[in-house]
Amino acid sequence: TPVGETIAPVFAPSNIALCKYWGKRDVELNLPINSSLSISLAHLGTQTRLSVSDEDAVWLNGEKVAAQDKFARKVIAFIDLFRGPQGSPVKVETDNNIPTAAGLASSASGFAALMLAIDGFYGLKLDPQCLSAFARMGSGSASRSLYTGFVEWQMGVREDGMDSIALPLDSHWDALRIGLVKVSVAEKAVDSRSGMNRTVETAHLYQSWPLQAAADLERLHQAIADKNFTQLGETAEQNALSMHATMIAAWPPLLYWQPGSVAAMHRIWQARAEGVEVYFTMDAGPNLKLLFTAEAEAAVKHYFPDMEVIAPFG
Ligand code: PMV
Repeated sequence: TPVGETIAPVFAPSNIALCKYWGKRDVELNLPINSSLSISLAHLGTQTRLSVSDEDAVWLNGEKVAAQDKFARKVIAFIDLFRGPQGSPVKVETDNNIPTAAGLASSASGFAALMLAIDGFYGLKLDPQCLSAFARMGSGSASRSLYTGFVEWQMGVREDGMDSIALPLDSHWDALRIGLVKVSVAEKAVDSRSGMNRTVETAHLYQSWPLQAAADLERLHQAIADKNFTQLGETAEQNALSMHATMIAAWPPLLYWQPGSVAAMHRIWQARAEGVEVYFTMDAGPNLKLLFTAEAEAAVKHYFPDMEVIAPFG
Protein backbone atom coordinates (compact mmCIF):
# COMPACT_ATOMS: atom_id res chain seq x y z
CA THR A 1 0.00 0.00 0.00
CA PRO A 2 1.35 3.42 -0.88
CA VAL A 3 2.40 5.58 2.06
CA GLY A 4 1.15 8.72 0.35
CA GLU A 5 -0.65 9.92 -2.76
CA THR A 6 2.63 10.67 -4.42
CA ILE A 7 6.30 10.94 -3.57
CA ALA A 8 8.99 13.38 -4.56
CA PRO A 9 10.88 12.31 -7.69
CA VAL A 10 14.03 10.29 -7.04
CA PHE A 11 17.16 10.25 -9.17
CA ALA A 12 19.68 7.55 -10.12
CA PRO A 13 22.77 8.12 -12.27
CA SER A 14 23.69 6.15 -15.34
CA ASN A 15 26.95 4.19 -15.27
CA ILE A 16 29.59 2.87 -17.63
CA ALA A 17 31.40 -0.37 -16.88
CA LEU A 18 35.20 -0.41 -17.03
CA CYS A 19 35.07 -4.16 -16.35
CA LYS A 20 31.90 -5.39 -18.03
CA TYR A 21 29.10 -7.59 -16.82
CA TRP A 22 28.70 -10.12 -19.60
CA GLY A 23 26.89 -13.43 -19.06
CA LYS A 24 24.38 -14.68 -16.50
CA ARG A 25 24.60 -17.76 -14.32
CA ASP A 26 20.89 -17.34 -13.50
CA VAL A 27 18.73 -15.80 -16.20
CA GLU A 28 15.65 -15.23 -14.01
CA LEU A 29 17.45 -13.44 -11.20
CA ASN A 30 20.06 -11.69 -13.38
CA LEU A 31 22.94 -13.29 -11.48
CA PRO A 32 26.20 -12.61 -13.30
CA ILE A 33 29.02 -14.98 -14.18
CA ASN A 34 31.58 -12.29 -13.27
CA SER A 35 31.89 -9.27 -11.02
CA SER A 36 32.01 -5.89 -12.74
CA LEU A 37 33.20 -2.36 -12.00
CA SER A 38 31.73 0.88 -13.25
CA ILE A 39 31.96 4.61 -13.03
CA SER A 40 28.83 6.63 -12.51
CA LEU A 41 27.83 9.42 -14.89
CA ALA A 42 27.06 11.78 -12.00
CA HIS A 43 24.23 14.11 -13.03
CA LEU A 44 23.25 12.10 -16.12
CA GLY A 45 20.56 9.58 -15.37
CA THR A 46 16.89 9.04 -14.66
CA GLN A 47 14.38 10.77 -12.44
CA THR A 48 11.26 8.82 -11.50
CA ARG A 49 8.11 9.45 -9.54
CA LEU A 50 5.17 7.22 -8.57
CA SER A 51 1.70 8.45 -7.73
CA VAL A 52 -1.77 7.06 -7.09
CA SER A 53 -3.81 6.68 -10.26
CA ASP A 54 -7.03 5.06 -11.45
CA GLU A 55 -5.15 2.99 -14.01
CA ASP A 56 -1.56 1.86 -14.51
CA ALA A 57 0.14 4.44 -16.69
CA VAL A 58 3.76 4.94 -17.67
CA TRP A 59 5.07 8.30 -18.86
CA LEU A 60 8.50 8.66 -20.41
CA ASN A 61 10.05 12.09 -20.95
CA GLY A 62 6.65 13.78 -20.70
CA GLU A 63 4.81 11.43 -23.04
CA LYS A 64 2.42 8.65 -22.20
CA VAL A 65 3.70 5.23 -23.29
CA ALA A 66 1.18 2.77 -24.76
CA ALA A 67 0.28 0.08 -22.19
CA GLN A 68 1.26 -2.76 -24.52
CA ASP A 69 4.66 -1.19 -25.23
CA LYS A 70 7.65 -3.33 -24.15
CA PHE A 71 9.02 -0.56 -21.93
CA ALA A 72 5.68 -0.01 -20.15
CA ARG A 73 5.20 -3.73 -19.61
CA LYS A 74 8.69 -4.10 -18.10
CA VAL A 75 8.09 -1.20 -15.72
CA ILE A 76 4.69 -2.50 -14.58
CA ALA A 77 5.99 -6.07 -14.23
CA PHE A 78 8.75 -4.75 -11.96
CA ILE A 79 6.24 -2.84 -9.81
CA ASP A 80 4.12 -6.01 -9.58
CA LEU A 81 6.99 -7.69 -7.72
CA PHE A 82 6.39 -5.28 -4.86
CA ARG A 83 2.69 -4.37 -4.82
CA GLY A 84 1.35 -7.87 -5.43
CA PRO A 85 -1.47 -8.88 -7.75
CA GLN A 86 -4.12 -6.93 -5.78
CA GLY A 87 -2.06 -3.74 -5.71
CA SER A 88 -3.76 -0.49 -6.66
CA PRO A 89 -2.86 1.18 -9.98
CA VAL A 90 -0.02 3.67 -10.20
CA LYS A 91 1.21 6.38 -12.47
CA VAL A 92 4.93 6.22 -13.22
CA GLU A 93 6.61 9.35 -14.52
CA THR A 94 10.17 8.85 -15.64
CA ASP A 95 12.54 11.30 -17.30
CA ASN A 96 16.00 10.70 -18.68
CA ASN A 97 18.37 13.64 -18.83
CA ILE A 98 20.87 11.53 -20.74
CA PRO A 99 21.03 13.32 -24.07
CA THR A 100 19.19 11.02 -26.46
CA ALA A 101 21.77 11.98 -29.04
CA ALA A 102 24.52 10.43 -26.91
CA GLY A 103 23.28 6.95 -27.69
CA LEU A 104 23.57 5.74 -24.12
CA ALA A 105 21.32 3.02 -22.76
CA SER A 106 19.17 4.09 -19.85
CA SER A 107 18.09 0.75 -18.37
CA ALA A 108 20.69 0.98 -15.58
CA SER A 109 19.59 4.36 -14.24
CA GLY A 110 15.98 3.57 -15.17
CA PHE A 111 15.62 0.52 -12.96
CA ALA A 112 17.69 2.02 -10.14
CA ALA A 113 15.46 5.11 -10.07
CA LEU A 114 12.33 2.95 -10.30
CA MET A 115 13.55 0.86 -7.36
CA LEU A 116 14.16 3.99 -5.27
CA ALA A 117 10.73 5.36 -6.24
CA ILE A 118 9.04 2.07 -5.29
CA ASP A 119 10.90 2.04 -1.97
CA GLY A 120 9.61 5.51 -1.15
CA PHE A 121 6.08 5.06 -2.48
CA TYR A 122 5.38 1.81 -0.65
CA GLY A 123 7.41 2.82 2.41
CA LEU A 124 9.59 -0.29 2.16
CA LYS A 125 12.69 1.34 3.68
CA LEU A 126 14.94 -1.33 2.21
CA ASP A 127 18.63 -1.11 3.04
CA PRO A 128 21.05 -0.21 0.22
CA GLN A 129 22.07 -3.85 -0.31
CA CYS A 130 18.47 -4.94 -0.85
CA LEU A 131 17.82 -1.98 -3.14
CA SER A 132 20.83 -2.98 -5.22
CA ALA A 133 19.80 -6.66 -5.33
CA PHE A 134 16.25 -5.80 -6.40
CA ALA A 135 17.34 -3.20 -8.97
CA ARG A 136 19.58 -5.94 -10.38
CA MET A 137 16.50 -8.03 -11.14
CA GLY A 138 15.19 -5.26 -13.39
CA SER A 139 18.49 -4.89 -15.24
CA GLY A 140 21.87 -6.21 -14.10
CA SER A 141 23.71 -2.95 -14.60
CA ALA A 142 21.03 -1.16 -12.51
CA SER A 143 22.54 -2.74 -9.38
CA ARG A 144 25.49 -0.36 -9.88
CA SER A 145 23.37 2.74 -10.48
CA LEU A 146 22.44 3.23 -6.82
CA TYR A 147 25.79 4.86 -6.16
CA THR A 148 28.00 7.53 -7.64
CA GLY A 149 31.71 7.30 -8.35
CA PHE A 150 33.40 3.93 -8.81
CA VAL A 151 31.08 1.02 -8.05
CA GLU A 152 31.78 -2.70 -7.93
CA TRP A 153 29.02 -5.24 -8.48
CA GLN A 154 30.12 -8.35 -6.65
CA MET A 155 28.83 -11.46 -8.38
CA GLY A 156 28.07 -13.22 -5.10
CA VAL A 157 27.78 -16.95 -4.50
CA ARG A 158 24.27 -17.41 -3.11
CA GLU A 159 21.57 -19.02 -5.18
CA ASP A 160 18.95 -16.47 -4.10
CA GLY A 161 21.27 -13.68 -5.27
CA MET A 162 20.94 -11.57 -2.14
CA ASP A 163 24.75 -11.23 -2.04
CA SER A 164 24.94 -10.26 -5.72
CA ILE A 165 25.02 -6.54 -4.99
CA ALA A 166 26.92 -3.42 -5.83
CA LEU A 167 29.05 -1.45 -3.40
CA PRO A 168 30.73 1.93 -3.88
CA LEU A 169 34.52 2.19 -3.83
CA ASP A 170 35.86 4.75 -1.45
CA SER A 171 37.93 6.57 -4.10
CA HIS A 172 37.74 9.85 -5.92
CA TRP A 173 39.51 10.73 -9.12
CA ASP A 174 38.67 14.32 -9.92
CA ALA A 175 40.72 14.56 -13.11
CA LEU A 176 38.93 11.67 -14.80
CA ARG A 177 36.81 12.51 -17.85
CA ILE A 178 34.43 10.49 -20.01
CA GLY A 179 33.72 11.47 -23.59
CA LEU A 180 30.57 10.25 -25.32
CA VAL A 181 31.12 9.63 -29.00
CA LYS A 182 27.91 9.03 -30.88
CA VAL A 183 28.07 6.79 -33.93
CA SER A 184 24.39 5.88 -34.24
CA VAL A 185 21.33 6.31 -32.05
CA ALA A 186 19.13 3.84 -33.94
CA GLU A 187 17.58 1.24 -31.66
CA LYS A 188 19.72 -1.88 -31.62
CA ALA A 189 18.44 -5.09 -33.17
CA VAL A 190 19.62 -7.33 -30.30
CA ASP A 191 19.36 -6.08 -26.71
CA SER A 192 22.08 -6.83 -24.17
CA ARG A 193 19.96 -9.46 -22.42
CA SER A 194 19.58 -11.66 -25.52
CA GLY A 195 23.08 -10.76 -26.68
CA MET A 196 24.73 -12.08 -23.55
CA ASN A 197 22.56 -15.19 -23.39
CA ARG A 198 23.39 -16.01 -26.99
CA THR A 199 27.09 -15.52 -26.32
CA VAL A 200 27.08 -17.79 -23.26
CA GLU A 201 25.14 -20.48 -25.14
CA THR A 202 27.00 -20.51 -28.46
CA ALA A 203 30.50 -18.99 -28.20
CA HIS A 204 33.28 -21.36 -27.13
CA LEU A 205 35.44 -18.27 -26.79
CA TYR A 206 33.19 -17.18 -23.91
CA GLN A 207 34.99 -19.71 -21.69
CA SER A 208 37.96 -17.36 -21.41
CA TRP A 209 35.80 -14.36 -20.44
CA PRO A 210 35.48 -15.00 -16.66
CA LEU A 211 39.29 -15.23 -16.37
CA GLN A 212 39.78 -12.01 -18.34
CA ALA A 213 37.18 -10.22 -16.23
CA ALA A 214 38.67 -11.40 -12.93
CA ALA A 215 42.16 -10.28 -13.96
CA ASP A 216 40.86 -6.92 -15.21
CA LEU A 217 38.93 -6.29 -12.02
CA GLU A 218 42.17 -6.69 -10.04
CA ARG A 219 44.07 -4.38 -12.40
CA LEU A 220 41.33 -1.74 -12.17
CA HIS A 221 41.37 -1.81 -8.37
CA GLN A 222 45.13 -1.39 -8.50
CA ALA A 223 44.90 1.43 -11.08
CA ILE A 224 42.31 3.29 -9.00
CA ALA A 225 44.32 2.90 -5.80
CA ASP A 226 47.51 4.13 -7.53
CA LYS A 227 45.74 6.78 -9.68
CA ASN A 228 47.47 5.09 -12.59
CA PHE A 229 45.49 6.34 -15.58
CA THR A 230 47.44 4.34 -18.16
CA GLN A 231 46.60 1.12 -16.37
CA LEU A 232 42.96 2.15 -15.99
CA GLY A 233 42.56 3.03 -19.65
CA GLU A 234 44.44 0.04 -21.03
CA THR A 235 42.50 -2.35 -18.83
CA ALA A 236 39.11 -0.87 -19.69
CA GLU A 237 39.81 -0.88 -23.42
CA GLN A 238 41.11 -4.45 -23.44
CA ASN A 239 38.18 -5.57 -21.31
CA ALA A 240 35.64 -4.05 -23.72
CA LEU A 241 37.35 -5.54 -26.77
CA SER A 242 37.54 -8.95 -25.09
CA MET A 243 33.81 -8.81 -24.38
CA HIS A 244 33.13 -7.88 -28.01
CA ALA A 245 35.39 -10.72 -29.18
CA THR A 246 33.14 -13.21 -27.37
CA MET A 247 30.06 -11.74 -29.09
CA ILE A 248 31.64 -11.90 -32.53
CA ALA A 249 32.35 -15.59 -31.82
CA ALA A 250 28.67 -16.27 -31.00
CA TRP A 251 26.21 -17.79 -33.48
CA PRO A 252 24.48 -16.07 -35.13
CA PRO A 253 27.36 -13.60 -34.81
CA LEU A 254 26.83 -10.42 -32.87
CA LEU A 255 28.69 -7.37 -34.05
CA TYR A 256 27.41 -4.14 -32.52
CA TRP A 257 30.03 -2.09 -34.34
CA GLN A 258 29.19 0.14 -37.26
CA PRO A 259 31.79 1.35 -39.75
CA GLY A 260 31.82 4.61 -37.75
CA SER A 261 32.70 2.70 -34.57
CA VAL A 262 35.75 1.17 -36.22
CA ALA A 263 36.76 4.54 -37.67
CA ALA A 264 36.57 6.04 -34.16
CA MET A 265 38.73 3.23 -32.74
CA HIS A 266 41.39 3.92 -35.36
CA ARG A 267 41.23 7.62 -34.53
CA ILE A 268 41.80 6.80 -30.85
CA TRP A 269 44.78 4.57 -31.64
CA GLN A 270 46.15 7.30 -33.89
CA ALA A 271 45.76 9.85 -31.10
CA ARG A 272 47.66 7.55 -28.73
CA ALA A 273 50.40 7.06 -31.33
CA GLU A 274 50.63 10.85 -31.47
CA GLY A 275 51.04 11.07 -27.71
CA VAL A 276 47.47 11.84 -26.58
CA GLU A 277 46.41 9.50 -23.81
CA VAL A 278 42.87 8.44 -24.62
CA TYR A 279 41.21 5.02 -24.38
CA PHE A 280 37.74 3.75 -25.12
CA THR A 281 35.13 1.35 -23.89
CA MET A 282 31.96 0.15 -25.65
CA ASP A 283 28.81 -1.63 -24.57
CA ALA A 284 26.19 -3.54 -26.52
CA GLY A 285 25.88 -0.82 -29.13
CA PRO A 286 27.88 1.10 -31.74
CA ASN A 287 28.84 4.14 -29.63
CA LEU A 288 32.14 4.76 -27.89
CA LYS A 289 32.86 6.08 -24.42
CA LEU A 290 36.27 7.71 -24.23
CA LEU A 291 38.44 7.79 -21.14
CA PHE A 292 40.97 10.55 -20.59
CA THR A 293 42.05 13.06 -17.96
CA ALA A 294 41.22 16.76 -17.70
CA GLU A 295 44.74 17.56 -18.80
CA ALA A 296 44.22 15.85 -22.16
CA GLU A 297 40.69 17.15 -22.79
CA ALA A 298 41.63 19.83 -25.33
CA ALA A 299 43.86 17.43 -27.25
CA VAL A 300 41.17 14.72 -27.34
CA LYS A 301 38.58 17.27 -28.55
CA HIS A 302 40.84 17.94 -31.48
CA TYR A 303 40.21 14.34 -32.64
CA PHE A 304 36.55 14.23 -31.52
CA PRO A 305 35.13 17.77 -31.78
CA ASP A 306 31.52 16.62 -31.27
CA MET A 307 31.92 14.46 -28.19
CA GLU A 308 30.09 15.31 -24.99
CA VAL A 309 32.39 15.44 -21.96
CA ILE A 310 31.38 14.30 -18.48
CA ALA A 311 33.29 14.86 -15.25
CA PRO A 312 32.15 11.87 -13.15
CA PHE A 313 33.38 13.39 -9.90
CA GLY A 314 31.71 16.76 -10.49
O1 PMV B 1 22.23 -4.93 -17.36
P1 PMV B 1 22.08 -4.81 -18.81
O2 PMV B 1 21.10 -5.79 -19.36
O3 PMV B 1 21.83 -3.39 -19.23
O4 PMV B 1 23.49 -5.26 -19.48
C1 PMV B 1 24.63 -4.45 -19.47
C2 PMV B 1 25.67 -5.01 -20.35
C3 PMV B 1 26.81 -4.10 -20.71
O5 PMV B 1 26.37 -2.77 -20.79
C4 PMV B 1 27.35 -4.52 -22.08
C5 PMV B 1 27.97 -4.22 -19.72
C6 PMV B 1 27.81 -3.54 -18.39
O6 PMV B 1 28.41 -4.04 -17.43
O7 PMV B 1 27.16 -2.50 -18.29
